[in-house]
Amino acid sequence: MKYGFIGCGNMGGAVTRALCNSTKEIMVSDRSGKAKALAAELGICYGDNQTIASTCDVIFLCVKPHMMKDMLLPLQEILGQRKPLLVSMAAGLRIQTIEAFAGMRLPVIRMMPNTPTAVGKGVIQYCYNELVEETALQSWLRDMQPCGLLDPLEERLIDAASALSGSGPAYMYVFLEALADGAVACGIPRAKAMEYAAMTMAGAAEMYLHTKQHPGALKDAVCSPGGSTIVGLRALEQHGFRGAVMECVLKTFEKNKELGEQ
Ligand SMILES: NC(=O)c1ccc[n+]([C@@H]2O[C@H](COP(=O)([O-])OP(=O)(O)OC[C@H]3O[C@@H](n4cnc5c(N)ncnc54)[C@H](OP(=O)(O)O)[C@@H]3O)[C@@H](O)[C@H]2O)c1
Repeated sequence: MKYGFIGCGNMGGAVTRALCNSTKEIMVSDRSGKAKALAAELGICYGDNQTIASTCDVIFLCVKPHMMKDMLLPLQEILGQRKPLLVSMAAGLRIQTIEAFAGMRLPVIRMMPNTPTAVGKGVIQYCYNELVEETALQSWLRDMQPCGLLDPLEERLIDAASALSGSGPAYMYVFLEALADGAVACGIPRAKAMEYAAMTMAGAAEMYLHTKQHPGALKDAVCSPGGSTIVGLRALEQHGFRGAVMECVLKTFEKNKELGEQ
């Protein structure tokens, strides 16, 4: 199976890095030539969009949603001759929109990854149309294993999942930085504060994944009656932390839906 990546920025690059652990049969392209360095680093090929469209079996579409139409238009003829499997990661764009931009019906997987895919800790939801053959899907899923969690999800829910896991790393980094800033304000050196914050976030997530205990119960186990943690939690509640996080996911979801309507 030969893979192509049209667009190799933050997200395309992250998936490329992970996929490289399964195969080196990968060609990447971009407009500026910046992806050449990534290709050299990973020991894969750099090419142009036409070469990818005319030689690759599976083509990841990793450009921004508003650039997808213009990127696919010049490739319509060659795609029509070969009908390779397209894999779109564009926020908001539905499978039928990708087919419309490609100018024909063809096999399409729509996936929603996140950047921790680069280090094998990604969350990827995916759905696909009826033209994707079972053998091709299984082989894709096998090669994508180094990315992290791959979870099938109905297309109508992808925008909502994207608001959590697709965008979520950005929100996590802000929380991580804020935790560390708080500790720096209390006198902890910056580098230590960052490491403690990251390990605390990763450890808390791991505890949940391992025990599947309700987060409320896990939280209660940290809060001694009359202790300091419950006072910290009161400060979070007073500043509307939960409401802010929920609102953040809802706003992101609304924007994802808007992207699909353009
Ligand atoms: N970033 C995330 O965390 C995330 C998460 C989930 C989904 N996504 C989706 O992933 C897609 C890419 O996002 P990104 O954050 O990776 O964007 P990005 O960092 O801006 O990368 C976009 C890439 O597309 C290339 N490109 C644009 N037009 C092209 C064309 N006509 N031919 C070839 N390459 C072209 C750019 O090349 P140049 O640099 O040379 O212009 C760049 O390599 C988007 O659809 C987004 O919705 C992103």
